This record gives sequence, C-alpha cells and structure tokens, in this order.
Amino acid sequence: MINTILGGGEYLELAKKLIREGEVVAFPTETVYGLGADAFNATAIAQVYRIKGRPNDNPFIVHIGAKDDLESVAKNIPNVAYELMDMFFPGPLTLVLKKKATLPDITTANLNTVGVRMPNHPLALEFIRACKCPIAAPSANMSKHISATSAMHVMTDLGGKIPLILDGGKSNIGIESTVVSLVENIPFILRPGAITRDELMQVLPDVQIKLSKVDKPASPGMKYAHYMPSCPTVCVCSQDVAKRIYSENIDKSPVIIASDHFLKECSERNTISLGETERSAMQLLFSSLRTAEMEFKYIILEYFPKTTRYEGINNRIEKASSGIIITN
Ligand code: TXA
Ligand code: MG
Repeated sequence: MINTILGGGEYLELAKKLIREGEVVAFPTETVYGLGADAFNATAIAQVYRIKGRPNDNPFIVHIGAKDDLESVAKNIPNVAYELMDMFFPGPLTLVLKKKATLPDITTANLNTVGVRMPNHPLALEFIRACKCPIAAPSANMSKHISATSAMHVMTDLGGKIPLILDGGKSNIGIESTVVSLVENIPFILRPGAITRDELMQVLPDVQIKLSKVDKPASPGMKYAHYMPSCPTVCVCSQDVAKRIYSENIDKSPVIIASDHFLKECSERNTISLGETERSAMQLLFSSLRTAEMEFKYIILEYFPKTTRYEGINNRIEKASSGIIITN
C-alpha cells in the first residue's frame, strides 16, 4: 500500500521528480483526469497498465506540452494535422498519426500509430512542461469503471496504488477527447468526444465516424467495457419510460439521472440533475454516475437525441448502460 499524496501546484516539483524516476502521477485535464508516465520509459508505462488493470492491447494517448513536441512522437505528419492543431490544440482532440520508432512499442500497444493530444488545463500543461517529456496517460480510473473528473474520484479508484494525485479541480469538459485518425485515406472519428463532428468538418469536410464492429474495433479501446457503474444501469428515451422503469424497480432503490426539463416530469422520485445544456450534461455525467452508484442501486439515464451534437455524450451513456436503450 502506497501513501497517496493529494495536492495542487505546490507538488509540481515532486511530480517532476516522480516522473523522472519512472513513477506514475495522476493529473487533471479539461476532459477527465489522466494517469501519467514518461511516454519514453517502457518500464513506467508497464506500471500504468498494471495499476489500472488495463488490457495490454489498448494504447495510451501521448500528452504534449507544446505543439512543436508533436514531432518527437509522430512522423509523416500530414498538413491537415497542423491545421487541426491550430484550431483545436490545446483542447479535447486526439490525433492518431504514424508513430516514431523511438517511442517504445508498449506506449502504443504495438500499433504503428500514436494518439497525441495537448490538454487545455493550466496545471496539466505546467506538469508536462516541467517533466520535459511527453506524458502517456489513460484516464485515471480503474479499467472498466467510470472516468474520473475530480481528484477525489481518482483517490476512490487509485488511492493507495499511486504516489501522487495533482488536484486541479473539477474537469470542466467532463468527457474524454474526440479521437481522430489521420492515417487512412479518409479521416475517421474513432471515439466521439467533446469536439463534435460538425466542428471537425470545418477542417475535415470528409470526416466520417467509424462504427465499431465487435470482431474489428476501429480503435482497440472500443471492444472493452467502459464507464460501468457498480449497479445495473439502463438508458431511456422518454420520461414515460423512465417513470415506468422506476416503478418496476422501486424495490431496488432506483435513481433517474437526466437534464432539468426531463426531470420536471419525474418529481417525487430520486433524481440527479445534469443541468439544462449539453455542456452541463457532459460535465456532470461521470460525477453523477459515481454519486449514483454510491447512493442508489439501480440507475436510469436519459438518452439524448441522436444528433451529432450529442454523439459524444450518448456514446458514454450507451457504454455505461452496456447498450441497454429502452425506447418504449
Ligand atoms: O480526454 C482524454 O482523451 C483522456 C485524457 C486523460 O487525456 N484520456 C483518455 O485515455 O481517455 P484512455 O486511455 O482512457 O482512452 C484512449 C482511447 C482508447 O479508446 C484507445 O484505444 C484510443 O484512445 N487510442 C489511443 N491510441 C490510439 C491509436 N494509436 N490508435 C487508435 N486508438 C487509439
Ligand atoms: Mg478511459
């Protein structure tokens, strides 16, 4: 059992020292917290897989502290990558590019590509720049569990297993980056996220979303269970369905997680609000799921309209509910 220190920028020197020594450090980003290690240190990366319980065929995103650092990990970079960087870096976008041979294979789970992103969070950028190396990091949650959007969430999953959690407050975006592959003949969204398909189309007019097949996932991460609360979770398309499922499971201590207008029709029931906008829903989704699994035993989640705006959040909701979408 390791004594886990939790604190803010005053621990940057310690964070840097730990990374230099091949240790892992959890750090905040604007999307979710990451569990970081030196992207060039194969032994440190192996520790991240082990601590998180991560399948070893699922690669990590490499986080850079400056746009110029892209060339230290990727090669054959197309012009469009620079255009995307100008528009979205720092921010919630991961670019999948050809990997440089100097980056250890374990960092990218033996793929010849690497996912790179520059987080838009002051403490994340200070941390990466202080370490003077790119930081490979998956989300800082136990594999399969709900991603962490606060330092306390990281403590719940990884306390006692890692030496330091840098606390940068609540992640203000709340779901993970959009992952876009630029290594095929057309650009593909491998994971929808905070940056929408419509936003990407300004630079990538022909971008498509890759629908995952079980036997051939678009991205290794797609074949694994994700964001799973510890109790049964379903998603519903209307208030009527939510109220019916609630009544049917009344003995299981149910809760409805939904936006304010949806909850207006669900009074006198256990509820958790996702606010009123898609931004607030993204920001509050993972923390609401974590609260719900601690306080209740059956989760009913609102499913959002099937438009490009909601692609990212609906993807997380579908996974949290293992694809159980109740339409009527
Ligand atoms: O917002 C985020 O992206 C957060 C923060 C911490 O940066 N990170 C994150 O990492 O969500 P993780 O490991 O939980 O999810 C990374 C996803 C996985 O589905 C993985 O398979 C995919 O990105 N990925 C990473 N490198 C890839 C590559 N070279 N090719 C295809 N998919 C890749
Ligand atoms: Mg993750």
